[in-house]
Amino acid sequence: MAMNNHFKRHRRLRSSASVRAMVRETHLHVEDFIYPIFVIEGENIKNEVPSMPSVYQFSLDRLMEEVTEAYELGIRALMFFGVVTDKDEVGSGAYAADGIVQQATKLVKGKYPELLVVADACLCEYTDHGHCGVIHGNDVDNDESLKLLAKTAVSQAEAGADIIAPSNMMDGFVAVIREALDEAGFTHIPIMSYAVKYASAFYGPFRDAADSAPQFGDRKTYQMDPANRLEAIREARSDVEEGADFLMVKPALSYLDVIRDVRNEFDLPVVAYNVSGEYAMVKAAAQNGWIDEQQLVLEMLTSMKRAGADIILTYFAKDAAAILRKS
Ligand code: PBG
Repeated sequence: MAMNNHFKRHRRLRSSASVRAMVRETHLHVEDFIYPIFVIEGENIKNEVPSMPSVYQFSLDRLMEEVTEAYELGIRALMFFGVVTDKDEVGSGAYAADGIVQQATKLVKGKYPELLVVADACLCEYTDHGHCGVIHGNDVDNDESLKLLAKTAVSQAEAGADIIAPSNMMDGFVAVIREALDEAGFTHIPIMSYAVKYASAFYGPFRDAADSAPQFGDRKTYQMDPANRLEAIREARSDVEEGADFLMVKPALSYLDVIRDVRNEFDLPVVAYNVSGEYAMVKAAAQNGWIDEQQLVLEMLTSMKRAGADIILTYFAKDAAAILRKS
């Protein structure tokens, strides 16, 4: 006998794969992804990063192997991180015309002009102390660092980068980069600001991959305190006022609430950075047979979009693109 109609039957909309697909609220697309790649000086190098299984450092002569694979999976946006041996106090490698990221950008744009190169503008991979700017006393000097960051952004644009993504968390970085790009004739190049970037332990594996760990202290005077939510709005608001075209939240997984706040407060595209530690945790569990990696990757990336992200920077981009292609 049928039950009286005094409760709701939510299961009606879950009864088959087809109906579930019909009512699904959030979808992943290959266009959502930006794929980060580590580029290392030297020849014939393809080094796996120990803390990031299946992520490699590529020398320039091997880089196109990886880029072509990503391209063929439908990925249309890349980000390069440079791994260099010659470092100095002022991170000259970041803004050298023949710097490694500049060379990688030229190479890729030469072969795939429609592939977007998003340039991470920061100094930490190029400074001998590993901090994201110039050191005065025992701390990073904000305004001195801005000048070098602006130089970095312009040199990346000159190399052919399509989008500049400043990540060193100096106050005013969007304003200064916007002005420098405009003066150099790059008014059409958008800025994807790492607007909300926390001082996070989730960056550990990246610092191995990019050899960018701070040699003393930490990044807590410039990256945000993980406990703060309102501060994220203040950070994002100033970047909007300074002319940012995209707002990024980083890391992603422990900060889904912040992604949602930024989504609700602003009308710019929101980017979530699914960082190295988030990647490493999934890989480690999968290698132990403790979780279903494919399911988990889709679930995590979907949660970032559900939280409000439009775009996801992720080391899983190729994997996710391959899964989406099959399904
Ligand atoms: C550079 C930068 C970092 C990451 C991206 N750009 C590291 C840091 O702030 O130490 C981390 C990305 C990741 O963990 O995947 N400032």
